[in-house]
Amino acid sequence: MIRGEAYAKVNLGLRVGRRRADGFHPISGIFQSVDIVDILELAGAEVDLISTSTGGAVPEALDNLAFRAAAAVREQAGSSKPIGITLDKTIPTAAGLGGGSADAATALVMAARYFGVDNAILERLALDLGSDVPFCLRGGSARVAGRGELIESLDALGGFALAIVVPPVEVSTPAVFQKWDELDEPTGLVFPQNQLPPGFRSEGDLINDLYPAAAALFPQLDDWRTDLADRWGRPVMLSGSGPSLYGFFVDRDEAAGAVAAIPAGSRFAEACTLSLVGWAITSG
Ligand code: C5P
Repeated sequence: MIRGEAYAKVNLGLRVGRRRADGFHPISGIFQSVDIVDILELAGAEVDLISTSTGGAVPEALDNLAFRAAAAVREQAGSSKPIGITLDKTIPTAAGLGGGSADAATALVMAARYFGVDNAILERLALDLGSDVPFCLRGGSARVAGRGELIESLDALGGFALAIVVPPVEVSTPAVFQKWDELDEPTGLVFPQNQLPPGFRSEGDLINDLYPAAAALFPQLDDWRTDLADRWGRPVMLSGSGPSLYGFFVDRDEAAGAVAAIPAGSRFAEACTLSLVGWAITSG
């Protein structure tokens, strides 16, 4: 049995360009792994199966992204051995934290180990599974462009922690990108450079172009953002297509204090620190 950890990611800024002929948008931004973790197990089984700790929120069927990732590796290995995957979710789904993509990237690595396949083939499989999967496979701190597959690893960012709050809405990424087209490709929410953590100021202002689209679809997002910004006394940013919102804090304790001060009713709220990795194999 192989056991692995899948790390959530936060988009520290996301610039978006006009929709391409293939339907995807060119993006650029800094992606950062954070220590909110799903646990996966993969082992041989009588028949293919996937089970989750949470039930409803994740499709238990074999079209789950993590299972598809493992099956893609199996196919590359020329094997038809049935496998079972269990998924213990902590990363909230449909939140803009890349939970499904992180699970898929981790399942790729676990299946490569199980089927004796070289990790070098995984990058190619990753993009077929989703635009965020290549970053989750790389992990850490990176500048990401293209559709999500052009990844330049950066020296580890540090000197700050994040408070992450997911308001009580579930956001579909394609719907937000489509709304961004309909709104005539607006420039998004700006997080001013002078309020960023010192080690991160060389990046200039952080901008998330998807914010106006997400807020147009879910007006309560803007209420949550302004309320948190008031309580925390600092700007609050949207991660990716949302709805997760975050603020920068000096360390985990300070971020935990901020999380303790939020209003009731969020789907998820957590203080987290930056992770150097997007996945880890912890046994097997
Ligand atoms: O690649 P993934 O399956 O995660 O993308 C889901 C949807 O999000 C795409 O079908 C597309 O509508 C939108 N998307 C986009 N541009 C990107 C990434 C995703 O338009 N760079």
